Amino acid sequence: MNTQKTILVTGGCGFIGSNFVTMLIEEHPEFKVINLDSLTYAGNLENLEDIMDEPQYEFIRGDICDENLVSKILSENKVDGIINFAAESHVDRSISGPKVFVDTNITGTLVLLQQAVANKTKRFLQVSTDEVYGSLGDDGEFTEESPIKPNSPYSVSKASADYFVQAYQHTYGLETIITRCSNNYGRYQFPEKLIPLMFNNARTNKKLPVYGDGKNVRDWIHVYDHCRAILLAYSMGESGNIYNVGADCEKTNLEIINLILTYLGKPESLIEFVKDRLGHDQRYAIDSSKIRNTLGWKPTVDFDSGIIKTLSWYYNNKDWVDNVTSGEYKNYYSEMYENR
Ligand code: NAD
Ligand code: TYD
Repeated sequence: MNTQKTILVTGGCGFIGSNFVTMLIEEHPEFKVINLDSLTYAGNLENLEDIMDEPQYEFIRGDICDENLVSKILSENKVDGIINFAAESHVDRSISGPKVFVDTNITGTLVLLQQAVANKTKRFLQVSTDEVYGSLGDDGEFTEESPIKPNSPYSVSKASADYFVQAYQHTYGLETIITRCSNNYGRYQFPEKLIPLMFNNARTNKKLPVYGDGKNVRDWIHVYDHCRAILLAYSMGESGNIYNVGADCEKTNLEIINLILTYLGKPESLIEFVKDRLGHDQRYAIDSSKIRNTLGWKPTVDFDSGIIKTLSWYYNNKDWVDNVTSGEYKNYYSEMYENR
């Protein structure tokens, strides 16, 4: 008897999705994975080179907003569940162009939910973010009961999607789980985000554009620990629940940048304070005691070793960085940072 379960992963060619798919294929033969990804600027087939030929894995290029395609995939493959990573994920891009965030993050999630119900797909896990809770002052942490107060177009689109997920659980009885994780670091992150962008700039002796005073705080978690939390919540989580995921590792942006400079042996004079991000959230911090206490999850990668491993990965994979920073990235960079 074939007991293998089939999961439809969306956005599996992006940063977290590709780490998740690789973890599933390498460590969990009980799953077959179908990866639906439209390959936007953030999607990269190279991220999956290690596992792309495995029989457990199938890639389909397509858009989560395409309801015929999603329906066909679900009905033809006896899909047991969906894990939705697909998203526009960058706050700065959401400020300069919010429309695509509505299309993918809200409409795309709705299409997946509708087709999950129509095709009797059992489970749906939405990969969400702590940014739906808004911003903190000096004290406190986000719990699952914190008010939803998103500030950026990105976080508003993610919060809207979360509400649709909850509505589909409540209204149609779809088994749903929402995970809300803090900032991830690790291999394969697109160099529009803080760590790979600063690393790439410092390595090539370019200025490091620090928004505002650099004292904004993010709560960092290694991507592998996030992936483990998602799989655990998908497999063991109780339907209708939200789980915060975080590793209790708050750092200011300047602390992160100084670590990168030290690693590369580059001078602090590369730092350049630039105009702040509009509506810049001051601080995120996650209370993840619920997933720790109810599902037994805990982080396994400590920051000091995880960050060195990550920086070494970027150092040793210069071709990957060069490939993703050629072409369109150059236009993005000059539009975002020149004359800032
Ligand atoms: P990413 O931008 O690196 O990857 C997104 C992927 O989705 C890409 O492969 C892209 O091609 C694909 N995609 C985009 N639009 C699509 C569409 N319409 N149809 C199909 N595929 C599409 O993002 P990431 O950093 O890996 O984030 C993944 C998820 O995790 C997102 O939902 C994000 O909101 C959430 N999240 C990210 C972080 C973080 O620190 N990066 C933290 C918490 C939550
Ligand atoms: P980012 O990686 O975009 O993640 P998020 O905004 O979703 O937390 O940014 C992390 C922090 O780094 C945030 O406070 C903004 C800051 N930042 C800079 O100072 N300069 C930059 O060029 C970027 C991309 C981010």
